[in-house]
Amino acid sequence: MTVLGIETSCDECSAAVVRDGHEILSNIIATQIELHKPYQGVVPELASRLHTEWIAQVVEAALRTAGIDKADLDAVAVTSRPGLLGSLLVGVSFAKSYATALSIPFIGIDHIRAHLYASQIENPLEYPYLGVLVSGGHTVICKVNSYDDVDVLGTTIDDAIGEAFDKVAKFYDLGFPGGVVIDRLARNGNPTAFLFPGPSLDKDEHMYDMSYSGLKTAVINQKDKFRTEGAEDTPENLAASFQRQAVGILMKRVKLALRDTGLRRVSAGGGVAANSLLRAELKDLEKSGYTVTFPSLKLCTDNGAMVAGLGYRYLMDGRRDDEFLSASARVSAFKKF
Ligand code: KG4
Ligand code: ZN
Repeated sequence: MTVLGIETSCDECSAAVVRDGHEILSNIIATQIELHKPYQGVVPELASRLHTEWIAQVVEAALRTAGIDKADLDAVAVTSRPGLLGSLLVGVSFAKSYATALSIPFIGIDHIRAHLYASQIENPLEYPYLGVLVSGGHTVICKVNSYDDVDVLGTTIDDAIGEAFDKVAKFYDLGFPGGVVIDRLARNGNPTAFLFPGPSLDKDEHMYDMSYSGLKTAVINQKDKFRTEGAEDTPENLAASFQRQAVGILMKRVKLALRDTGLRRVSAGGGVAANSLLRAELKDLEKSGYTVTFPSLKLCTDNGAMVAGLGYRYLMDGRRDDEFLSASARVSAFKKF
């Protein structure tokens, strides 16, 4: 089954052709980074306008790169939630009309489940496993029972981890997108130059939850308070120290969740899963006998391949959407563990 996957939930306009859920024939990602750079953040109105201009060409490029004709497609999968509503609507409207014109089925895909599924395309991992979804909009630790069935263990109670990276970078004018720049700067910095605090959340109520707004505020408003003696106040040191704590907050909960659930497999997904420190720390769990997978870098950030890959699973189960499929900015229901 050859599936076209379309992803326009934020600032990447992406289309991919995936065969039988794992063979990526193409994965075109047209990024709007240059457009949003002057604002150091994604401007929703501009994002949706550019998706409208680009989507047809991006889909054509995906078919051309895959070396197939649109008549060879068996189905279309499209991100329908959550994300920026205007941006989502472009992808959903396009996918519906494209599939209808070709008389093939289409299916709306949940962006969070797609990120969690991304690593399964390249490195299939047996269910259940601990899922670590870390992106610009979400920070979720969950028990992934199947591609569709996810029990949430913990989430951020305020900012998403990627949002914290982006806001710190924006405040200090380090560059855009913030996560990528901080990751790069951190390589040449001292991670203990600043000892930033982690959140103190009520353990009973927030066992596996995280918080990033306190860390962000400390880095932005009170950094001098946390500078260690003799440490230099450089962007590299700031980036390395912030990153150490941002990843530390997450890893602490990941380890707790592994201990308490007894799960022996872990997989990460989402843009922040591209972070080199997080990848190293997760990989380190292998020394304790855990099996750890994450997507290749291109499948961490938003992309059409993860949408087509997950779409394939639903389609094989006989699931389809109809003309009433709509876009939604909101997160769909997940079970609380
Ligand atoms: O998954 P994604 O492309 O979009 C959302 O669904 O949000 O994630 C984007 C986020 C941004 O916050 C970006 O700064 C972050 O992923 N990111 C990183 C890295 N690469 C992207 N954060 C830390 N380190 C990276 N290497
Ligand atoms: Zn995403």
